[in-house]
Amino acid sequence: MKILHVDASSKFHQWSNSRALGRYFIEQLQHKGVELEIDYLDVTEDVQPHISAEFVQATYTPQAQRTDRMREVLAESDALCQRVMAADALVCAMPMYNWTIPSTFKTFIDNIIRTNVTYSLHEDGSITGNLGDKKVLFVTTRGADLGEGSPFANMDAMTPVLRNTFGFIGVENPWFVDAQPLQFSDEAAREAGLKKAREELDAVSEEWAMSLVSADVIVA
Ligand SMILES: Cc1cc2nc3c(=O)[nH]c(=O)nc-3n(C[C@H](O)[C@H](O)[C@H](O)COP(=O)(O)O)c2cc1C
Repeated sequence: MKILHVDASSKFHQWSNSRALGRYFIEQLQHKGVELEIDYLDVTEDVQPHISAEFVQATYTPQAQRTDRMREVLAESDALCQRVMAADALVCAMPMYNWTIPSTFKTFIDNIIRTNVTYSLHEDGSITGNLGDKKVLFVTTRGADLGEGSPFANMDAMTPVLRNTFGFIGVENPWFVDAQPLQFSDEAAREAGLKKAREELDAVSEEWAMSLVSADVIVA
């Protein structure tokens, strides 16, 4: 299984919970006998450019009519789309920043949502996402508890943006493991939040491994 593993925490690596949980998930898959090829991307170091006027013009110009300059402007995004399309699964680990996704992950999204690459625009104006064959897991870490009943429950602008943007390119049922509360709480609640997240990651890794067994990719 080829995984594009994306990290988006701006913390020093050794202190990052989302990085640790993403790694934990990959290790669980390996322990279950899943043979992995990992393509690793740290969007805080390999930062994608913001959408520019030239990018917009180039992306809306049909491929055959693009100038050399347009092709140059799109080259980095093209390469990133290739990495996404080449993967069987995406594991994206990120903290909540100001109630939503980190801006580095937003620029990643901006660079991989491309007409007639990751989604197809048909003559009648309808759209088909092209990533429907991929498993996608989002591991998110939050300082507060945004679960049901919490005073922060209505503040989650992270889950909708991930669900909608990836849904647009064909990812209908991504997995979410949300570790919370990891900051605005006492030590016991932090530990409980991490433990629950690890248990949920165990379950998702089991599900992914079993789907490969039923597809005859690995032997049970
Ligand atoms: C700049 C910044 C903004 C943050 N904004 C929020 C927020 O809006 N809501 C929240 O629950 N936690 C917020 N946090 C806390 C982080 O989401 C939390 O500590 C998370 O566990 C960090 O993940 P990491 O260890 O992988 O970096 C913020 C942290 C930072 C550094």
